[in-house]
Amino acid sequence: MAKPEPDLMERVVSLCKRRGFVFQSSEIYGGINSCYDYGPLGAELKRNVKDAWWQAMVVRRDDIVGLDSAIIQHPEVWRSSGHVAGFSDLLVDCRRCKGRFREDHLDAIPCPDREFKGRVARVCQQEGLHTEPRAFNLMFETHAGPVKDSASIVYLRPETAQGIFTNFLNVVNSSRMAPPFGVAQIGKSFRNEITPGNFVFRTREFEQMEMEFFVPPADEDRWYEYWVEQRFRWYVDNGVRPDRLRKRPHAEDELAHYSSGCTDVEYLYPFGWGELEGIAKRGSYDLTAHAKGCGKDLSFFDEATKQRYVPHVVEPAAGCDRAAMTFLVDAYDEETVTDEGGKSEVRTVLHFHPRIAPITVAIFPLVKKAGMPERAKEIQATLMDAGLRTFFDEKGAIGRRYRRQDEVGTPYCVTIDGDTVERDGTVTVRDRDSMAQDRVQPAELVAFIRDKMKAWRRG
Ligand code: GAP
Repeated sequence: MAKPEPDLMERVVSLCKRRGFVFQSSEIYGGINSCYDYGPLGAELKRNVKDAWWQAMVVRRDDIVGLDSAIIQHPEVWRSSGHVAGFSDLLVDCRRCKGRFREDHLDAIPCPDREFKGRVARVCQQEGLHTEPRAFNLMFETHAGPVKDSASIVYLRPETAQGIFTNFLNVVNSSRMAPPFGVAQIGKSFRNEITPGNFVFRTREFEQMEMEFFVPPADEDRWYEYWVEQRFRWYVDNGVRPDRLRKRPHAEDELAHYSSGCTDVEYLYPFGWGELEGIAKRGSYDLTAHAKGCGKDLSFFDEATKQRYVPHVVEPAAGCDRAAMTFLVDAYDEETVTDEGGKSEVRTVLHFHPRIAPITVAIFPLVKKAGMPERAKEIQATLMDAGLRTFFDEKGAIGRRYRRQDEVGTPYCVTIDGDTVERDGTVTVRDRDSMAQDRVQPAELVAFIRDKMKAWRRG
């Protein structure tokens, strides 16, 4: 049975900063709490996560189309959807330490008061140090235009989903989609979280990957089960170890205001089990609410059965940052390796699926002379033309260059040596996981790497 590893998070966070995955935002000004910037490798990682999701959810299906809706929408959208009235968490204030906490997180939050070191905030509540819980709306408010009055209030969207519901008619009319069909969207969402934390797990600005699947009402349960399975499989197919994943159906009192059923795909993080993605049955809640709010008919007329109905919705809603962090944590490993001379060392390695890894192939001329760098550049150009993300490194001992790539999860390293330029033209391809090496003709290199990527399995 897999167990959480509390100090793993620190090692992953340190690697992220050292190697350019994730930086504290505005660091040169002292940083801003719970805001992060993705560095060169983090930007590639996130792009690969989004590409893998878009491939699985849109490109490889003929029943789902994409959308890219605005972050700032008509304020009525959020009144109709129930977010203005109900998108809130309960917060409490501590009269002693002046901290402000989410009521449902008190069991996990350590009391910040030094005197109470080691105890959780729930104990302070039980001792009567907290105010009564009150609702705190999580939506960020701002003003559109130069006048700051109540008429100009707009919200930064707290989920991408509503942009899909408000475009339901546009998509049906322009794309001739009919239930069962889905609309997928990737984009930023904003929530004024009371207690953000655990690195990029819970932040106030984050990216979501959401899909609303519109179905005839009688088919909702069947599609719900289908999407729970599909979404669980997506993480496994992209390299996450299945024994660190589980499906957790929500209890009745956990369900969001719009949902009649929800299952979370959870991951065993270093701090314990946490939600990675939620798959919810939203019924006809949203289309009905918007139809009422805007006065337009958002039902669907089925030509085949001659019936009109409001489609029900099954929604797989994932977090891109949370998925990227999960891939990082799950891939992280420290292995003891022994060289031919019997010398042991610890190698830090990220066992990313090659599809998710920020760099696919590193290219090393063995030495900076004898035509090797020039030949290496030519080979790199071929790999670039094939759409593979590459990295060129000609500095330092070859063993050190391998270690640097292991640490950022590059699955393949190609070395150009004396045999390449003087003898048979072949290059060495070194595999990150097995550390095995093959000699390959440059003309076969792209196909060789693509085959290895397809055949990749987590060891
Ligand atoms: N449209 C439904 C919806 O937004 P949610 O469970 O609130 O459902 C979906 O969010 C996913 O978005 C979560 O499973 C998580 O991966 C991600 N997410 C939500 N809040 C987040 C936050 N504050 N920081 C990072 N990711 C977040």
